[in-house]
Parts: sequence; C-alpha cells; structure tokens
Amino acid sequence: MPTLLHLDSSAFTDGSVSREVSAAFRAAWQARHPEGTVVYRDLAARPVPHLDAHGISAAFTPAGQQSPEQAAALALREELMTELEQADAIVIGTPMYNFTIPSSLKAWLDQVILMGRTAGESPSAAGTPVTVVAARGGSYAPGAPREPFEFVTTYLEKVLTGMLGLEVDFIVPEFTLAATVPAMAGFVQQAAESKAQALEDAARKAEALAA
Ligand SMILES: Cc1cc2nc3c(=O)[nH]c(=O)nc-3n(C[C@H](O)[C@H](O)[C@H](O)COP(=O)(O)O)c2cc1C
Repeated sequence: MPTLLHLDSSAFTDGSVSREVSAAFRAAWQARHPEGTVVYRDLAARPVPHLDAHGISAAFTPAGQQSPEQAAALALREELMTELEQADAIVIGTPMYNFTIPSSLKAWLDQVILMGRTAGESPSAAGTPVTVVAARGGSYAPGAPREPFEFVTTYLEKVLTGMLGLEVDFIVPEFTLAATVPAMAGFVQQAAESKAQALEDAARKAEALAA
C-alpha cells in the first residue's frame, strides 16, 4: 500500500499558496492511489523541536547507556526517520522567509538527517521522489535582480539530494505578495499565472508518480 508523506510549513493557513499547491498534489496523488495512506505533518502548527545535545549524542550512545533525555530525543528522531523511510513519495510545502526556508522545516531536516542511516554513503530513503512547493512573495527566477538571494531551492536541492539521496522536483509559485503589496501591483497577472501553473504542475507530477 503506497504512502505519501505530506509536510507543510507555512505559518499561515488561510491564503497560504504553498499549502494550497501541496494540497492539490496530495489530492491528485490520492485520486491515483485511493488505497494509499497519507502521513501528514503540519510543522508550523505542531513544530518538531530543534535538534539538541540529547538528540545528537543519543544517536552515538549504546542503547543501554542512554539517559532518559537521550532516549526520549532519539524516540522522536526514530519516528520522524521511519516516516521518511516508509514514504513512497513526499510533498513539502514551504514559504520563503527571509530568503530561505522557515525554521520549522529546518528543525525537521535536522531531526531526520542522521549520518550512517538516512544520510551518508547509502541513505536509507535514497531514490524516493520529493516534490517541493516553494512559494515566495517576489521572484528569484534566473535573471531577476534578486536571483542571488535565493536560498530555498538552492539549499533544499543540496540537502535533499546530496544528503538524503532523494529525487527532488520543485514547483515555485512566485509574486504571491503582488495582490497585497501596492509596489508590486504590476505583478498581479504574473502571480495569478504562476499559481495556476503551480496547481497544474502539482496535479500532473502527482499523477505521473509510479507510487
Ligand atoms: C516572515 C516572512 C518573511 C518573508 N520573507 C520573504 C522573502 O525573503 N522573500 C520573498 O520573496 N517573500 C518573502 N515573504 C513572503 C512569502 O514568501 C510569501 O507570502 C509566500 O507566499 C509565503 O508562503 P505561503 O503563501 O505558503 O504562506 C516573507 C513572508 C513572511 C511572513
């Protein structure tokens, strides 16, 4: 039975473009896999804790020698890593906050990246397809003045591919602030087109997945 791991990380629910597009991906995946299971984590509403000293050291401490704090921290990492490993496909909704991903998504990444298991020479989830919906208020497209400030897709491409060994694909709705920021009023049409394209891409990519 196929499993989709669905993560959202926008601080907003109403009006969140990354949530709307990741939901479209999920709906198309479920239509293709009515018998499938969706594991959902809202990392903004229910954040996973930052990786701390207990969680780091626990992974390198033999089971019988772990403190209660280490054991508890490792149990959470185990749960999150297992969700990653059991997924046949993953969709991640992320806003751009201050040029990069929200700290809630970074916290999840820090928890699941473990050298020798999910990362390293043979990452345990290698080859799993992950679609990232990366919404942003402006544009960081090739040639845009802000292109060098883009640390969402550039970072996630490196970490999801280079560390976790996942097969990464991006959907990037742009200019989402055009409707509310007067200085961006000239980009309202581009924003609408970008979102429509993102919704179409999400459905198409989900339907194209083998599992
Ligand atoms: C705290 C914060 C920081 C933001 N930083 C940026 C930024 O650096 N660049 C940008 O283009 N948009 C920025 N935005 C706008 C969001 O990227 C935009 O609203 C996007 O659509 C958020 O995703 P969502 O619609 O899924 O909530 C920021 C928004 C917030 C709330």
